[in-house]
This record gives sequence, structure tokens and C-alpha cells, in this order.
Amino acid sequence: MLQTTLAIIKPDAVARGLAGEILAAVEAEGLRPVALKMLRLSKAQAQGFYAVHKERPFFDSLMDYMSSGPVVCAALRGEDAVARYRALMGATNPTQAEPGTLRRKYGQNLEANAVHGSDCPENAAVELAYFFNALEMTE
Ligand code: CMP
Repeated sequence: MLQTTLAIIKPDAVARGLAGEILAAVEAEGLRPVALKMLRLSKAQAQGFYAVHKERPFFDSLMDYMSSGPVVCAALRGEDAVARYRALMGATNPTQAEPGTLRRKYGQNLEANAVHGSDCPENAAVELAYFFNALEMTE
């Protein structure tokens, strides 16, 4: 099924100059960016995005990290884009991610794991709307 998912290149990866390389890997996988932007999240904006995690012990640290520098957000479109991008990212913890995956290659630790991706089509719709309005979505 043709889907769109939200990808975020997180502050640690952007700061290390990896945004272009990660987008190239995404495109090589056949996932097309149909909307793209760089922005710096405030803590409040990061809290809004990760609201489902607000009771987790790592939440405050995650908010500091996600607001520590610019991120690159992309809407990725393709057949089964949600699952395919998750496979490309690998497991949340870079040490447990398969060789060749983005988190294995570029993640530094469980928190600074380089990239985010929506976990299901329903959440993808919510997450895409958090960053992109209808005019910004080219498809
Ligand atoms: P992400 O897929 O963006 O979803 C939530 C984020 O919280 C996750 O990637 C990591 O950056 C971070 N995270 C998840 N689990 C933990 C944990 N146990 N400790 C610290 N950070 C975590």
C-alpha cells in the first residue's frame, strides 16, 4: 500500500554532518522525500511531539536532547513506507540494530540514536501533521 511516513534526522546526526548521507540512504532504498525541512524544536515542541512518552523515566533527557540543535524532518512516500523505513532504521538501541541499518551505522547510544520514524500508519498521519501543513506536502 502506498504510504507516507515521518522521518526525523535527530540533532546528534545533523550536528555530525550526516543529514545528506542519511537522506541519500533513504532515497537509495526507494523512499521518496515529498516534504522536507530543517528546524530547531523548543522543549515545548519536543514535548508535544513525544507526548506519548511523557511518563517515561527518560522523557526529560529526551527533551533536552531533541531540543539541543536543529533536526531535519522528511515526509517519505513509497509502497509500505512505514515498515520499510523502520527496517532501514533498525532497532531503537543502536547496539541491537542490524548491521547496515541507519541506527547501527550512525546512532551513538539508546537516546542519541540518529533517526526517528513513525511506528504505524495512524501515528504517521499524526506525526506528519505535527511538522507539515497541507501546502507543504507535495504529494
Ligand atoms: P524514537 O524512536 O524517536 O522514540 C523515542 C525515543 O526515546 C527513542 O527513539 C530514543 O531516542 C529515546 N529512548 C527510547 N528508549 C529510551 C531509553 N530506555 N532510554 C533513553 N532514551 C530512550
